[in-house]
Amino acid sequence: MNKNLRISLGLVFVLAPGLTHAAVVGDADAGKGKSLICAACHGTDGIGTAPENPNLAGQVPGYIADQLARFKSGQRANAIMLGMAAGLSEQNMADLDAYYSSLPAKRGAIPEDSVEAANRGAGLYRGGDQSMEIAACMGCHGPSGHGIPTRFPRVAGQKQTYLVNQLQAFKTGDRQSDGRIMNSIAFLLTRQQMENLAALMHAFQ
Ligand code: HEC
Ligand code: HEC
Repeated sequence: MNKNLRISLGLVFVLAPGLTHAAVVGDADAGKGKSLICAACHGTDGIGTAPENPNLAGQVPGYIADQLARFKSGQRANAIMLGMAAGLSEQNMADLDAYYSSLPAKRGAIPEDSVEAANRGAGLYRGGDQSMEIAACMGCHGPSGHGIPTRFPRVAGQKQTYLVNQLQAFKTGDRQSDGRIMNSIAFLLTRQQMENLAALMHAFQ
């Protein structure tokens, strides 16, 4: 990453509201070295190696560092990631964030048996549901699921199983989001709707 870009990213971090690690600027090259230990599960290219392991490549800058801090503090409860994050400093988290967000994101794909499900998820994703007071997912995750730095994660091309797991965890409260945004949304979703939405998000390019 050239120096100017690093400075401008730093500015974005400082100006972004709600970001907890504003002072630490990540270095993607340093992050690459630190990512070796993550590769078994998140791939050498940032693409998860199992359906439960999320892709990290191309994630919006800021989000990965934020989630690592949540795993470390236990605010986001996950036994594996608690162990992985426990030894990471803020600088480590920022470097890993800079590295993974610089990698090319997974291009979405739509398995033949998911086409119908994805189509059924599209209405809710794009328009929400007024009668159930579900906000359109698009408003925060973007029309094609690319997310909005630094707070709203990329969901495009993400593993279907991982996405359903997260929606389920938001619904039960096992995973908390700021202001309970995702909890109050997922609370209203049926398992079928979660699967439809996951098929759609997975398919986004
Ligand atoms: C043994 C497997 C394993 C290893 C090694 C591992 N992870 Fe994970 N990681 C997971 C799993 C499983 C999840 C999903 C947790 C959940 O369902 O909440 C996850 C979730 C994450 C998330 C949340 C992503 C999101 O979209 O919210 C981040 C960020 C992350 N890992 C980063 C890392 C980093 C950085 C390392 C290396 C320091 C690492 N992981 C090492 C298995 C692993
Ligand atoms: C008002 C903004 C907002 C809306 C609307 C919204 N989300 Fe989210 N979403 C978030 C935020 C913020 C997070 C990060 C959660 C956290 O704090 O850890 C998130 C996280 C997620 C995640 C976890 C991603 C990951 O990598 O772990 C999924 C999946 C998701 N949202 C799906 C949806 C779906 C499906 C909808 C529509 C039914 C939706 N979201 C609507 C704000 C929103």
